[in-house]
Amino acid sequence: WGVDGHYIVCQIAQEKLSETTAVAVNDLLPDYAKNNLSSLCSWADHVKFIFPWSSELHYVNVPDDSCTYNYSRDCKDESGVQGRCVSGAIFNYTSQLLTYRNSSFDIKYNLTQALLFLSHFVGDVHQPLHVGHTTDKGGNTIDVHWYTKKTVLHHVWDGGIIETVEEDFYDSNVDDYTDALNKNITGEWSDQISKWQSCSGNQITCPDIYASESISAACDWAYKNVTEGSVLEDEYFYSRLPIVDLRLAQAGVRLAATLNRIFS
Ligand code: ADE
Ligand code: ZN
Ligand code: ZN
Repeated sequence: WGVDGHYIVCQIAQEKLSETTAVAVNDLLPDYAKNNLSSLCSWADHVKFIFPWSSELHYVNVPDDSCTYNYSRDCKDESGVQGRCVSGAIFNYTSQLLTYRNSSFDIKYNLTQALLFLSHFVGDVHQPLHVGHTTDKGGNTIDVHWYTKKTVLHHVWDGGIIETVEEDFYDSNVDDYTDALNKNITGEWSDQISKWQSCSGNQITCPDIYASESISAACDWAYKNVTEGSVLEDEYFYSRLPIVDLRLAQAGVRLAATLNRIFS
């Protein structure tokens, strides 16, 4: 996602933190975050150049002929190092943050960075094309037009659809779009929320489920009927917007559930 997508995910999550979790999150956030995760949820994108090792942790790609995801097959970086992908990063930062409970003075990990990476990556793993096909780099090499603008398919999903819905329906106000998603969470989707939150067994987070859903949505919706040079406009926008709405809401609900399991 772009800046707005990550802001929305963390804004939805922030409201759903338990009291204990909110205290721990505030303790880890720098003061300038003003006790709110959402202002820092794009931090991980800004540090790709300072921490080059982190840039491969934002996504996971699967073979071109596949619409399923498999952790041991797919979660590795370009040099083949296992676990270096978005779902592996979610497991890693979750286990780092679990040390917050025991050690008031842990110098092994920077838990502020762990919190910001985790909050960002739970968002990214829900962006369908962050679990995309290897050759086209999750749609980054597929040139398209988004209405009149030249872009790539990946960016339509990171930001194009979100910007269009904000401009056309919410007066370019990201908070109004977030409110609309929150209304769906307490309304239309309310009977699905406990299923979104749950993780089988005693797991704290379930990135493999989130990644499987993403590649499935990528094949069924993002890549569907798109080829190099496609002009994407109203038909694509109106049929894909419900998927973007759903994935942003699921990411926010699941980030809160994960943080609540880590800290309380
Ligand atoms: N770079 C390579 N594959 C990518 C993907 N699926 N998403 C974002 N960046 C990528
Ligand atoms: Zn992206
Ligand atoms: Zn990212």
